[in-house]
Amino acid sequence: MPTINKCLFPAAGYGTRFLPATKAMPKEMLPIVTKPLIQYGVEEALAAGITGMAIVTGRGKRAIEDHFDISYELEHQIAGSDKESLLSGTREIMKKCTFSYTRQIEMKGLGHAILIGEALVGHEPFAVILADDYCVTEGDAVLTQMVKLYEKYQCSIVAIEEVPQGETYRYGVIDGQLEEDNIYRVQNMVEKPAPEDAPSNLAIIGRYILTPDIFDIIRNTPPGKNGEMQITDALLAQAKQGKVIAYKFEGRRFDCGSVAGFIDATNYTFGKQTEQVGDK
Ligand code: G1P
Repeated sequence: MPTINKCLFPAAGYGTRFLPATKAMPKEMLPIVTKPLIQYGVEEALAAGITGMAIVTGRGKRAIEDHFDISYELEHQIAGSDKESLLSGTREIMKKCTFSYTRQIEMKGLGHAILIGEALVGHEPFAVILADDYCVTEGDAVLTQMVKLYEKYQCSIVAIEEVPQGETYRYGVIDGQLEEDNIYRVQNMVEKPAPEDAPSNLAIIGRYILTPDIFDIIRNTPPGKNGEMQITDALLAQAKQGKVIAYKFEGRRFDCGSVAGFIDATNYTFGKQTEQVGDK
């Protein structure tokens, strides 16, 4: 049975909602407290047993590559000081993971970004994390939950959550048949439908496991919503063959693509950290 060895991170977007912060800095490097969003994503993939990080970047994203690399000057500066412990998590990641990068030269949508990642992922099932969907859980991380599900279902899996009906226009929305608690066999999916057109209020959030046939499907799927290549449209072709599972995950998601969600995530995480320090 193929295991999931690679996690793709589409990270070429401009993050215009966060201007001016994102003028010269990738939005994926915005920190929740002291850790960049993308590092949370990488840690989640690693926790799920995935060590190959495949990152689709673009212009102005060099800081992501530098982040997962050694900074000799800095290391020298803090060697032997108590500051070293602040880098230990990042060092651990660098020891355990490999990083590969490619650039998305034109912004043609999430489906296009994933297709660009084909060069890094090859012909095997893979995970996708959209780092601005920041997820916290009590137990297994969301991707770990999904990898376990993949072992059973062996097909593409999307993470979903219920959203207020009035917000469906912000998400890919699914419709499906309940297979088990929290698990749906997807029958229909629509990218960013108006509330009155939405097939349900079950919205896709930024965690996917995709089987590699998705690449050919993306290539053959015409542009959809906003003239972009939509992963939702490509997944619909798999869903029509009964090959997409939607999973209502255990945990909480913060939409860090919006300023309000980002602030909520920051407050939540800082609260948790101070709680833990208080417990010690
Ligand atoms: C993308 C997907 C959408 C999904 C969302 C999750 O949209 O196209 O289907 O619901 O991510 O965050 P974006 O937020 O990039 O516009």
